[in-house]
Amino acid sequence: YSLKKHNTFGIEAKAKKFIAVHSIDELTQVLHQNKLEKKFVLGGGSNMLLTKDIDALVIHIDLKGKKIIDEDEDFVWVESQAGENWHEFVLWTISQNFGGLENMSLIPGNVGTTPVQNIGAYGTEIKDTFISCKAVDIENQQLKEFSKAECQFGYRESVFKNEQKDKYIIASVVFKLTKKNHKINISYGDIAGELNKNNIVEPTLNDISNAVITIRQSKLPDPKELGNSGSFFKNPIVLKSEFNAIHKRFPEMKYYDISETEVKVPAGWLIEQAGFKGKRFGDAGIHKNQALVLVNYGNATGQEILNISKDIQNTIFEKFGIRIEAEVNVI
Ligand code: EPU
Repeated sequence: YSLKKHNTFGIEAKAKKFIAVHSIDELTQVLHQNKLEKKFVLGGGSNMLLTKDIDALVIHIDLKGKKIIDEDEDFVWVESQAGENWHEFVLWTISQNFGGLENMSLIPGNVGTTPVQNIGAYGTEIKDTFISCKAVDIENQQLKEFSKAECQFGYRESVFKNEQKDKYIIASVVFKLTKKNHKINISYGDIAGELNKNNIVEPTLNDISNAVITIRQSKLPDPKELGNSGSFFKNPIVLKSEFNAIHKRFPEMKYYDISETEVKVPAGWLIEQAGFKGKRFGDAGIHKNQALVLVNYGNATGQEILNISKDIQNTIFEKFGIRIEAEVNVI
């Protein structure tokens, strides 16, 4: 079974077996019936690089549906099933005038994978509105609810990438969104500029969403047109004590303070300075508008993309003494 259409990189890889599940019952049944089989869980396929065929039963999480589960005067609690497309879900919340997700418009992938790496963009992360998620234990098929604290969210991190890696399948997620007094967040540079261009002084949720969409479309390739997985690397976090010495050698290096002792350096800047931006090696390459994004021009293999990523990591370490880590899940 070809997985080419099931990963946004558009990599050709085959699954030994493939089953799509549409409800929690179907999911638990499939898990139960295939207890001894090796399993691989697939959501929107937007954050992985397939470097080989999958010698396992691939379970595609296609649970659909979203509903309001509670509300008071100010807030609404919305539950979405894991297989809902993230961007369509965000647009639906905005159409209901529910605030909190607008800065994360147009992020590829499905709702169920958003907690795994605490997705974020333009000054907002999923953890800011996340309440809980329900997940099925792969081993015993029990449904467990994870509170926000239990998810242990960090920058592109959660318990599902660490202690609980490959142990649970997220089935649904609950967000708490504002019904009024929306917390408009235009702190991230580009958004204010984009609103200014359109003379928008008091932006609505929709205005923010549109600004984010415009910015993303100007930098980030659409996976439907050019295979990619968004940022391939995380922005590295460097100790200030080490950073000071690096900064002396590269005074123009961009950075953001994130704590008393640490700074975050934009990996895109490092990759661009290392000369990789826009480079192409066969069908694999580095995007011309955003160096953090690796792209597949058509028939690149996962291995070719992985090789480029390693080359980038080594060059950056040699040049700057900074290690950058993949954000994408390499399979
Ligand atoms: N930069 C360069 N060259 C590049 C790219 C960026 O010099 O090719 C510099 C920019 O000039 C800017 C800085 O790096 O000063 C930051 O760039 P940008 O605002 O584009 O954000 P980013 O750090 O590259 C992160 C997220 C994105 C998210 C944006 C906006 C990570 C790994 N990536 O990118 O997330 O959309 O901020 O919030 O944290 C994703 O995770 O897939 C993703 C796209």
